[in-house]
Amino acid sequence: MQLITRLIITCLLVRFCTALKEGETCASNGNCDSGLHCETCIANGNVRPRCTRIQSVNPTSKVNGLAYNRYSWLTTHNSFARLGERSDTSSLILAPSNQQDSITDQLNNGVRCFMLDMYDFQNDIWLCHSFGGQCYNYTAFQPAVNVLKEVKAFLEANPSEIVTIIIEDYVTAPRGLTKVFDAAGLRKFWFPVSRIPKNGGNWPTVDDMVQKNQRLVVFTSKSAKEASEGIAYQWSYMVENQYGNGGMISGSCSNRGESAAMNTTSRSLVLFNYFPDRADVTEACKHNSAPLISMMNTCQVAAGNRWPNFIAVDFYKRSDGGGAPEAADVANGHIVCGCENIALCRANMTFGVCEVPEADRSPAPKSIAHNSSFAYFESPSVLLQWLLSIILVALLIQL
Ligand SMILES: *[C@@H]1O[C@H](CO)[C@@H](O)[C@H](O)[C@H]1NC(C)=O
Ligand SMILES: *[C@@H]1O[C@H](CO)[C@@H](O)[C@H](O)[C@H]1NC(C)=O
Ligand SMILES: *[C@@H]1O[C@H](CO)[C@@H](O)[C@H](O)[C@H]1NC(C)=O
Ligand SMILES: *[C@@H]1O[C@H](CO)[C@@H](O)[C@H](O)[C@H]1NC(C)=O
Repeated sequence: MQLITRLIITCLLVRFCTALKEGETCASNGNCDSGLHCETCIANGNVRPRCTRIQSVNPTSKVNGLAYNRYSWLTTHNSFARLGERSDTSSLILAPSNQQDSITDQLNNGVRCFMLDMYDFQNDIWLCHSFGGQCYNYTAFQPAVNVLKEVKAFLEANPSEIVTIIIEDYVTAPRGLTKVFDAAGLRKFWFPVSRIPKNGGNWPTVDDMVQKNQRLVVFTSKSAKEASEGIAYQWSYMVENQYGNGGMISGSCSNRGESAAMNTTSRSLVLFNYFPDRADVTEACKHNSAPLISMMNTCQVAAGNRWPNFIAVDFYKRSDGGGAPEAADVANGHIVCGCENIALCRANMTFGVCEVPEADRSPAPKSIAHNSSFAYFESPSVLLQWLLSIILVALLIQL
């Protein structure tokens, strides 16, 4: 009986059990629409939990048939460095962590590109977040094959999806990478280097890649491996802005050392990094909000009016509303159909002729006030609801 009362009260609390939209205040993940979760962003002064985006729109589900480089893929930096993880060596991990969930969960939320640091370790290839090109028990997360097997399972279960892996490569074992990708069963999905456009041309279309089952694109940071192992050398095909604090100076977007200048159009892919030197789960929600979109615009201009194909962040689920998934939706809108958001793209539409649906024309509920004063309550009814909630919670505790 008590349980039922509690359930009813909880229901009332969360606005009569309707799923809440992005930016609306919530009590738990279950209150929010799918693709959202409920969290605060204290770093932004956003102290009341709100429904926050954790999933991007799958761009190929909106408009298919474009070249691989005509989409933007949500990317996780150090995808494997999961918060609270213990090393498979059973050592405590002293390296910083950059993400909150598994590769499988990331895939299910729409992440399609993974930045993985691979090292020789314990006669195998491991994912480590280390220094000096050397992995230690306390910087070792797990053998790379485990994570690659998660990618394989996803590609098998989703026959029209494409996944990209960018390796920060410290592997010196002969054919070490080849062996680990083979061991994971990923060879059959390999996109061959010979099919990558060499002078900034368009890639094959995603349909073509799907049809040929060449759905895994892998890049290495070691140039010699392109010839020796058929793994694409990242800097021949991609430009990338400075990562870390140096890449977070508002209004400036320069290339990282290894990359050609951002506006080098002989590289058909553009990667946009936006995360600090030291991964910071608390601050990440602030970085992944307005500053992310702002820097994406800066880098778009720097890259010769090219929107990023990859948007790489730490803690991709953290933001004060739309976050990195929204940044990907915005980039996809521009690249795919010339609109502000992929949500406005339709199959066969004329590029740039964007019809905003009637429902979206009214002021969006997601305009988020960061004030901590009473102006923070968007309307008297919200304030009333909040007070009511407090009273009900007080009652609940009494039960
Ligand atoms: C590292 O972990 C392995 C177990 O995977 C253990 O055998 C080895 O002794 C550890 N090395 C150090 C230096 O602690
Ligand atoms: C590319 O950007 C550089 C600055 O980084 C600029 O000097 C150069 O003119 C640009 N080139 C083109 C073709 O826009
Ligand atoms: C788009 O155009 C193609 C080829 O002209 C056609 O096969 C397809 O059905 C069209 N799709 C939609 C949704 O109209
Ligand atoms: C409150 O928010 C509004 C708009 O969001 C802003 O103009 C105003 O300066 C803010 N006030 C304070 C005290 O932060």
